[in-house]
Amino acid sequence: MARFIDELKRTHDCGALRASDIGREVVLFGWVQNRRDHGSIVFVDLRDREGVTQVVFDPETSPDAHTVADQLRGEWVIGLRGVVRSRGEQFSKKEGKLVSAANPNLPTGEVEVSVLEATIFNKADTPPFALEEESDTREEVRLEYRYLDLRRAPLQRALRMRHRINQATRNYLSNKGCLEIETPFLVKYTPGGARNFLVPARLHPAKFYALAESPQLFKQLFMVAGFERYFQIVRCFRDEDLRLDRQPEFTQIDIELSFVNQDDVFALVEGLVFEIWKAAGIDLKEQYPDGRFPRLGFDDSMGLYGNDKPDLRFDMHHVDLTDVIVEHNGGGIPFWQPIAEKFKSGAYRRDLPPEIVKALVVPASANLSRTEADKLEQLAKSMGAGGLARAKVGPDGSWTQSPLAKSITPELSKAINAATGAQEGDLLIFQFGRTSLVHTVMANLRVHLAKKLGLIPEVGHGGKWNFSWVVDPPLFEYDEDNKRWSAAHHAFTRPHDEHVDLIETDPGKVLCYRYDLVLNGFEIAGGSIRLHDPTVQARVFKALGIEQEQAQEKFGFLLSALRFGAPPHGGIALGMDRVAMLLSGTDSIRDVIAFPKTQKGTDLMSDAPNPVSPGQLAELHIRAVQEG
Ligand code: AMO
Repeated sequence: MARFIDELKRTHDCGALRASDIGREVVLFGWVQNRRDHGSIVFVDLRDREGVTQVVFDPETSPDAHTVADQLRGEWVIGLRGVVRSRGEQFSKKEGKLVSAANPNLPTGEVEVSVLEATIFNKADTPPFALEEESDTREEVRLEYRYLDLRRAPLQRALRMRHRINQATRNYLSNKGCLEIETPFLVKYTPGGARNFLVPARLHPAKFYALAESPQLFKQLFMVAGFERYFQIVRCFRDEDLRLDRQPEFTQIDIELSFVNQDDVFALVEGLVFEIWKAAGIDLKEQYPDGRFPRLGFDDSMGLYGNDKPDLRFDMHHVDLTDVIVEHNGGGIPFWQPIAEKFKSGAYRRDLPPEIVKALVVPASANLSRTEADKLEQLAKSMGAGGLARAKVGPDGSWTQSPLAKSITPELSKAINAATGAQEGDLLIFQFGRTSLVHTVMANLRVHLAKKLGLIPEVGHGGKWNFSWVVDPPLFEYDEDNKRWSAAHHAFTRPHDEHVDLIETDPGKVLCYRYDLVLNGFEIAGGSIRLHDPTVQARVFKALGIEQEQAQEKFGFLLSALRFGAPPHGGIALGMDRVAMLLSGTDSIRDVIAFPKTQKGTDLMSDAPNPVSPGQLAELHIRAVQEG
């Protein structure tokens, strides 16, 4: 029988001991964080997941333990028995006298353990990088040795944070009457939405399952089945291009509720967010005393910020100049004239403009140099823009440092100054052309400039948690390429009751009960009130050009189920990884996922995805085609 673990049980973790424990005999297990040899005495910082304790090996106290200490290296795993004592005093050269040897930065800093007996559980190879709080080791290396990276304090904190978020979520939603029920991952492929990963069905040659991109259809079926309130902390799979806030497998806090309207969903989620933030040690009451988050109309969000997930910690909003340009017939600017003409002739609708003109004002105080402004143009071009027109406002309001200055009519430059509020010394930057591109470019420029100008307060340093619901988007969007209406989100979103009659006559005007919750420039949740009424559903399909037969083929079981007494219902899903990312103050969700994939979707530790043998492929009735 081994003395440690079998006989000597761990009495404390490495973050537990305080001055009140002095004199107590303790047993600690952990990893050697570092080892310092002070002549004959060896000091070791012993680490486990709860913290670090200084332990001391003195040959006069225990020659055997000291022999063990002599061999120790970083990351070796050891056990020890010893006595807690005060760290006492040491001579400070700086102060020229004896001072307390306590380490005020460490919770256990007042004490140390004098070791009486020690054992080595396991040795360790030298880690490929230092396991410290801050690491400047390349992420690729850290991902290859993720199990070591996970020993670092920031990752330990992040994963604990996820644990607390999960606990808070389960408690809160259970108390609100939601049942945690699981849904399948292997599902039928349905077109539309995010691209699915496909899984070959060995028992059914040439047939495939899809990995569920979300439990959407199933949670709606739970409502049809009468479960009324559901939640699940669930893994979702999407074969999308990856970004810092996107992973191919990620976790949602998924919710569906019966007999609710949009406000009921919001109230439930606001309560949940308060609980999650509380679990992270943050009280949102100060910022949101009534417990409610503000709402921003989708149209306003696009108009002012260029996207539906604006960072509202700073203003610097866009100004839509399309009306002003039309009024002035393009004001002498060759690129603006044709746009103005199209609106004038009725070829373009003002409420659904295929092309727009937008401006941003960079305040004179920013002191942007020409080179910096040129860099902005390069950035715009990298996003697909043709260029970035700009003009500096002179003392009399006239424009300088701009090719536009020569041709623009004084009336238009004056009108633009008035519309944007631009003052002497300010820099105006413009984008015009295809609406979606203008929005995207200007949305990114807004954030880029705000970062550059230091307008974004850092969360935790006087910064704010700026939540907002983005509401009332259109149900349909016009597909310019195919000249037809398509569903802006999906075909099962409920239109506003007062807009139902516009479905046939003016689809672009139909707003719906879809909503996103945004936080500091990230979409952290999205959902909708569902369309449970088969007659309205049929009208929506018709407007989308989907025949009944096609609809059945596409959405089969959901459509059938909705005919068997579906209650009014709606729901939402929170992106749990993004929530954890924001709460951890990092800018990559890889930092809060235990085993994430790289931007290219690979796992550098296990080397997935990898080729499989021809035999395995044959079993699946698949032939691989090597490209290139
Ligand atoms: P949606 O597609 O908006 O809605 O997803 C909900 C939330 O999940 C997060 N998210 C992601 N996080 C990390 N990586 C990804 N690839 C990724 N994709 C999405 C976002 C997003 O807000 N079934 C609907 C919900 C509903 O209608 O109830 C859905 O999945 O934070």
